[in-house]
Amino acid sequence: MQDTLNAIVTKAQVELSALQTRPDFEGAKARYVGPNGELTAQMKKMGAVPKEERPAMGKLINETKMRVQELLDGALARIETIELQAQLGPAIDPTLPSPDAGPGTYHPLTLVREEMCRILRKVGFTVADGPEVETEYYCFDALNTPADHPARDGQDTFYLPAGVRFGNVTKKVANERYLLRTHTSSVQIRTMLKGEPPIRIVSPGRVYRRDTSDATHSANCQQLECLYVDKNVTVRDLKALLDYIFESLLGRDTKTRFRPHYFGYTEPSFEVDLSAKHLPKVKKEWIEIGGCGMVDPVVFSDVGYDPEVWSGYAFGMGLERLAMLLYGIDDIRYFYQNDLRFLKQFA
Ligand code: DAH
Repeated sequence: MQDTLNAIVTKAQVELSALQTRPDFEGAKARYVGPNGELTAQMKKMGAVPKEERPAMGKLINETKMRVQELLDGALARIETIELQAQLGPAIDPTLPSPDAGPGTYHPLTLVREEMCRILRKVGFTVADGPEVETEYYCFDALNTPADHPARDGQDTFYLPAGVRFGNVTKKVANERYLLRTHTSSVQIRTMLKGEPPIRIVSPGRVYRRDTSDATHSANCQQLECLYVDKNVTVRDLKALLDYIFESLLGRDTKTRFRPHYFGYTEPSFEVDLSAKHLPKVKKEWIEIGGCGMVDPVVFSDVGYDPEVWSGYAFGMGLERLAMLLYGIDDIRYFYQNDLRFLKQFA
């Protein structure tokens, strides 16, 4: 039996050190220590060993078992290293300089955003910023959007858990919840609460909705908001500004039209359609581009402006839609996939 055991160890040394893959390893392991394995067969013979030889034989078998187990462990460790190596790919030297990717380019949404801000700065607007994490007051209540409005439903808005705190996002009402802003209109309120009219701001930024992603929807997107507050502001001023910015951005053949609509924070309210048939891939005559209206007196009262004295207009629009029109992009998801083949086209 001793010779057989020694032979098993010798054979295992050779065989196990040559294994390369996990299935081969599992096969070999079964052949030695599985229920029908060679070593297991020897152990089963112990019963037939004369009593006086048993202790010595038992010891020998145990030593053999341990030796075979060591060889198995060694083989498995080696195979795991091979597998890891295959996953990691060829070795790299992290101290080498990175390959020259050339200068970066602006994202198409950045290009459109900056161009819109440039166009609006020319006529006296300044850029205002607001937080992406908002509170219910700034996002909804102050915009005359009551608690039972569908926009406030948990299905439509990302609320943050009650316990979280954001030291840099001020709350207006003690127990209001934090949420990811659903529109940039909240910046209107933050701006008005900060100072006195006249006000002329443009506020671009990211907004969030519980949308399922497809060619025209995304759970986060970019908006651009404008607010103008002064004396004797009329719908005509609003229309003139929209005509000016869209002609500047998309070309002189661009037209806008208003359709009556409802927003809690403007009265009257309109949806804005664009006609820009000179642009590639624009198949429809009119394309909805945003919402607008004259600031509702209720909103002015809420922020402490006298609605008898002050008037104003506001509008908001999606930047993706504008960029898609301008560049002839037909799927919103391209903006967020970071595919250089796409992004480099806007250099
Ligand atoms: N906040 C609206 C939206 O996200 C767009 C909008 C409509 C903005 C009317 C405005 C406005 O400033 O007056 O759909």
